Amino acid sequence: MSGQNPTTSKKTWANRWTFLLAAAGSAIGLGNIWKFPYIAGQYGGGAFVMLYLLCIAIMGVPLLMAETAIGRHTRLSPLNAIKKLTSDLGASKLWGIIGWMGMLAGFLILSFYSVIAGWSLSYAWDIVTGAFNGMTTDQVGDAFGGLVSSAPRQIFWHTTFMLITLLITARGIHKGLEKGLQVMMPALFALLLVMLGYSMLETGQFMRGFNFMFSVDFSKVTGEAFVAALGQAFFTLSLGMCCLMAYGAYMPANNSIPRTAINVAALDTLMAIISGLIVFPIVFAYGLEPSAGPGLLFVSLTAAFVHMPMGELFGFLFFVLVGIAALSSAISLVEPALAWLIERTPLSRTVATVILCAAIWFVGLGTVFSMSGDLTFTLFEKNFFDLLDYFTSNILLPVGGLLISVFAGWVMKRSTMMKELGLSVGVFNLWRAMIRVVVPLCVLTVLITTLF
Ligand code: PHE
Ligand code: NA
Repeated sequence: MSGQNPTTSKKTWANRWTFLLAAAGSAIGLGNIWKFPYIAGQYGGGAFVMLYLLCIAIMGVPLLMAETAIGRHTRLSPLNAIKKLTSDLGASKLWGIIGWMGMLAGFLILSFYSVIAGWSLSYAWDIVTGAFNGMTTDQVGDAFGGLVSSAPRQIFWHTTFMLITLLITARGIHKGLEKGLQVMMPALFALLLVMLGYSMLETGQFMRGFNFMFSVDFSKVTGEAFVAALGQAFFTLSLGMCCLMAYGAYMPANNSIPRTAINVAALDTLMAIISGLIVFPIVFAYGLEPSAGPGLLFVSLTAAFVHMPMGELFGFLFFVLVGIAALSSAISLVEPALAWLIERTPLSRTVATVILCAAIWFVGLGTVFSMSGDLTFTLFEKNFFDLLDYFTSNILLPVGGLLISVFAGWVMKRSTMMKELGLSVGVFNLWRAMIRVVVPLCVLTVLITTLF
């Protein structure tokens, strides 16, 4: 099923691996490899990781199931799905806000996601061309500073990444990429294991990194850490913006949604934990700061690649594969807004993709200039990038997830969800209690206590 308009196609993917691959492709990306270690580092390690795992288990998994089930039940794009469901069920049209927020979230997230993916491409290039050869760790840190302070360099790579996203998206979301991912994802995983081996055997700081991630300092369990963990859980699982609803529309009827949801969550969490276990021992071994911020992954790993045998090759492969993981996530970020443009305007898929990607690219310049220091605008002591990141991960996605869970729990028919999930009555009731009460209450509590 290549190059089909997702809104008119009622076809499903060939087998259960395809859905798993697509969902995992969306989930696994910069969120795991770049964002998880740096946020965990900023919020003090173990406390954050514990809250994060809690959010994944309590909110993430039930919501993953809910989103996928709604998508598969309607076999429509998110906006049309919500529209049809509300009219069939006699519910308020206001639920359409779920789709709108999802489009906005995807749009805004991709605008900065592409800039960071651009960093990864830039690193791949610099490593393979020997730009880091013989550098000390301090110089590696300065080199990162050199990249982020240069708007032209970042724009070049941001543009490159958006162009690749555009080309693949314009040709239909599944074409080609599916096959590629089947090779790339395992390759990325294998390379992460190589790096994990390096952290374990060569840094001499593995246990320190491990303890940083897993020993919980309860004084660091704060409301602020909780909201960051919640936001990261939604971000990393691609939740709360109807992305999995869009993919669920293609899922074959005989696939088990609960099993797939658990697999996706488990794979995604595994990748994040491994990334942390790679980054922190290196951070300690090279005297870097865990709380260094968005540059953490780039500086620490490059410091290691400089010292590693065949570091140029591993470094190049690593950053290329991270770029590819980011690409499969980027495609899922465009999808909700693109589906809307195709359905509700006379634009062709190609033209819609070009317009959308151009707009996203443009907003991405805000992130570039806030990184480079050209855009000095701040609000609540946050620069443009921090604001975007905070607003999308910590507000839009959780609120979207909250609404989706209320919709799935209170508006959707019990029998519909029961059929889609195919769980035994007892387990189904547990899921339903989570989605009706626990998920909304948790999200609300976290948001209210930290925002007000
Ligand atoms: N889950 C992706 C990641 O961890 C990012 C993403 C968020 C993708 C929301 C789609 C929707 O990198
Ligand atoms: Na992720």
